[in-house]
Amino acid sequence: MDRIRLALVGCGGMGTRHLYGMKELALTSLNNVELVALCDIRQENADMAATEAEKLFGHRPATFTDMETMRRHLPDLDAVSVVTDPAFHHTVACQALELGLHVMVEKPMAITVGACRRMMDAAHKNRRILSVAENYRRDPSARLIRYVLDNRLLGKPYLAWLHALSPGNGIFITPWRHLKAKGGPVLDMGIHYTDLIRYQLGEVTEVYADARLIENVRYKPPSIGDTYAFYQNRHKAMPDTVPADAEDVSAALLRMADGFTVNWIMGYGGSGGISGEMILCQEGRIETYGTRGGKAVLQRNGEEKRTHEQTLELAPGFSLEPLAAHFFPNRITDGNADWRLIALEYHELGEAILKNRRIEVDGTEGMKDIAVVYAILESSLAGRAVTLKEIESCALYDYQREIDDALGLE
Ligand SMILES: NC(=O)c1ccc[n+]([C@@H]2O[C@H](COP(=O)([O-])OP(=O)(O)OC[C@H]3O[C@@H](n4cnc5c(N)ncnc54)[C@H](O)[C@@H]3O)[C@@H](O)[C@H]2O)c1
Repeated sequence: MDRIRLALVGCGGMGTRHLYGMKELALTSLNNVELVALCDIRQENADMAATEAEKLFGHRPATFTDMETMRRHLPDLDAVSVVTDPAFHHTVACQALELGLHVMVEKPMAITVGACRRMMDAAHKNRRILSVAENYRRDPSARLIRYVLDNRLLGKPYLAWLHALSPGNGIFITPWRHLKAKGGPVLDMGIHYTDLIRYQLGEVTEVYADARLIENVRYKPPSIGDTYAFYQNRHKAMPDTVPADAEDVSAALLRMADGFTVNWIMGYGGSGGISGEMILCQEGRIETYGTRGGKAVLQRNGEEKRTHEQTLELAPGFSLEPLAAHFFPNRITDGNADWRLIALEYHELGEAILKNRRIEVDGTEGMKDIAVVYAILESSLAGRAVTLKEIESCALYDYQREIDDALGLE
């Protein structure tokens, strides 16, 4: 067997983008994934994805509205990719693992740390792979910055910030992104940042934070930028207003295992915004953590600012894994990073199943990313600094208990 047989579960906006990611992989000689089925509780979404898939791959995958039926019809299925909204990640992933399937799940791994733990237990019990699709860190910009930090090309970091606050009261992509029990903006977008912070700077040990709900009603934006048919149809069907109950603005101080702090301001809402990323090191500064389609920018003390290309001159030993090197031969993003980063996630899953290779963002990593987000929300509710130990062990769980109760999780 040189290809895993895979089903996509959750055929919404990101599910559609996953099809394009699989297509990017299929165009290479390293392809190790075959899409055989699509599953969505809404048949019309599965059908729309099937039409898109037919256009991309020349054949129409089978469609299903429940996983058990899909499993019965496809006994040689190897894995599922879970791209449902986050409130269902744990139910879908645990069911798939119990059905003997390997699982890759979109970020955020799950809706609470408790839900993450259930998924980790199910993967362990069924001896299946659990992978979390966290795309930002796979971009050449994030890889290069990690190389600069690991090799101490600017010395040790001593202070950092990550500010990503956008003002306004528009609906952020989907109505569910404003609901606490479905994954509010601090979780949905903040998870990319907690992953990047941990990837670049190591473990967070303690958090002191304040998080607030500023916009309790959200309004339909006049248009959306994404051109995929799915997004455009969804925009048309969007209600004019939706109620919001998830915090949309957060500020925090994250203490890192090395003792220094990261200042965090993140959210979508309110009357003002701020954007800026910085990692201050003893011998210079890095102006981004890297992102999907990003470019590294840094400055050594006493020298001019360096572009990504100029940073590469400082790092002759920096290389990308074979598929990433194929997509980004100049070690810099060009063209459509979104699909290529997704392709890298699928390829890694295939290699892990077929050749027992390691998964970079496994259940433990995915859970730790979630725990930092919930350390922010739990700290705000508790009105005190919290340790990551308390959050990862679920010893402090007041904020998340409400979500578990709403979802019927014990
Ligand atoms: N990595 C990224 O850059 C990125 C970008 C966007 C979204 N995402 C993630 O992708 C996931 C999906 O987001 P989206 O914007 O596509 O949401 P969406 O609402 O557009 O799509 C979700 C789809 O899942 C289906 N679904 C829900 N429950 C299901 C179940 N139990 N079984 C089968 N199908 C089910 C829905 O019917 C819908 O079609 C989220 O976890 C989100 O955070 C990641």
